[in-house]
Amino acid sequence: MGIYRPPPPAERRTLSHLQRRAGETLHDRRPDPVPDGFKLNPIEDRVSISMFFKRWLNALSQDMAIDLGTANTLVHVRGRGIVLNEPSVVAIETIDGVSRVKAVGDDAKLMMGKAPRQIRVIRPIRDGVIADIDIAEQMIKHFIQKVHGARRLRRWPEIVVCVPSSSTSVERRAIRDATSNAGASSVWLIEEPMAAAIGAGLPVTEPVGSMVVDIGGGTTEVAVLALRGLAYSTSVRVGGDKMDDAISSYVRRNHNLLIGEGTAERIKNAVGTARMPIDGQGAELRIKGRDLVNGVPKEVAINQAQIAEALAEALSAIVDVVRTALENTAPELAADIVDGGIVLTGGVALLHGIDELLRDATGLPVTVAEDPLTCVARGTGQALEDPIYRGVLQAT
Ligand SMILES: Nc1ncnc2c1ncn2[C@@H]1O[C@H](COP(=O)(O)OP(=O)(O)O)[C@@H](O)[C@H]1O
Ligand SMILES: [Mg+2]
Repeated sequence: MGIYRPPPPAERRTLSHLQRRAGETLHDRRPDPVPDGFKLNPIEDRVSISMFFKRWLNALSQDMAIDLGTANTLVHVRGRGIVLNEPSVVAIETIDGVSRVKAVGDDAKLMMGKAPRQIRVIRPIRDGVIADIDIAEQMIKHFIQKVHGARRLRRWPEIVVCVPSSSTSVERRAIRDATSNAGASSVWLIEEPMAAAIGAGLPVTEPVGSMVVDIGGGTTEVAVLALRGLAYSTSVRVGGDKMDDAISSYVRRNHNLLIGEGTAERIKNAVGTARMPIDGQGAELRIKGRDLVNGVPKEVAINQAQIAEALAEALSAIVDVVRTALENTAPELAADIVDGGIVLTGGVALLHGIDELLRDATGLPVTVAEDPLTCVARGTGQALEDPIYRGVLQAT
């Protein structure tokens, strides 16, 4: 195949240009301007053909970005966007001492709190770190295979996985190894707040400070970013799970009612609020569980004010960690944050009134990122696809 190309401008002939083009994806490809005069250049011709094949291989490669969250795992495939979004849950069945994976993701979550004795429903990632490495590996393997489907692989995929910024080198190695064993040709890591910030559209490559607060199931991560790096980061093991626990304990203490993890989560997501309702009551909800005194199933009414009371402790831990981060931010970056404010990502950013709570506590503008549940996955995907972010990927 012969391709006529215009004479390349001087800056195009540099090695870094070729490297940049090599890292490009199909998305980055813009049609070259139609030249006034053509000239056949065999070297450029060969380069463009190899680029074409590189892009073609990239399109077939199924390179992936994985947001391995405490609550949810999302997979983004190069050129296709987010193709999988399922709970980080695995059900293991043990028969005659032999264990096997019974279900993963959505199917496993449905079994939570309802599984028979021989089935254990496990969340392998707790508090932002891998609590059970073997099961986490099985889960990653299952999701990667599900994404591949019937497609034949031309080469093993390159995979970017996000890790909490507070994770230790041992924890990072565990995630790397689990991903390699699951079939990756090479594994890159990206720190979660960086991925969250990229996904939220913050100017992380520029000399401008931005602050992102990612509130997930297990942890709240707070970071100040500039020039492709984390200038400051901190985290606290408080997130949606602690809030669900707080709701369960509140209902047990005040209504003598035992409720499951799933029910507590549904209450939080449906009527949970970070602010006391103005009328002191708010909306009412009827919840079902088991009576602690006489052991029979029963139903009680609970209102939003009671849920706000239950969530207060977890929320104050989140406010404290944001305040600590602000106190430890260098003055020049702090000045940028006064203008740009704080951006919230992660599922709990959807909790009613949490932005107002942080706005009142810090005096800064606080915004919730668009689609906060997918921010980290989209940011990890962009880091994989867009060469501008290559510097944020780490080998270990
Ligand atoms: N509307 C909502 N209000 C409050 N919390 C929510 C809402 N939707 C989801 N969540 C919570 O967000 C958490 C999951 O967020 P996610 O960012 O996926 O966490 P992770 O990254 O740890 O997997 C869960 O605790 C879930 O209950
Ligand atoms: Mg997350």
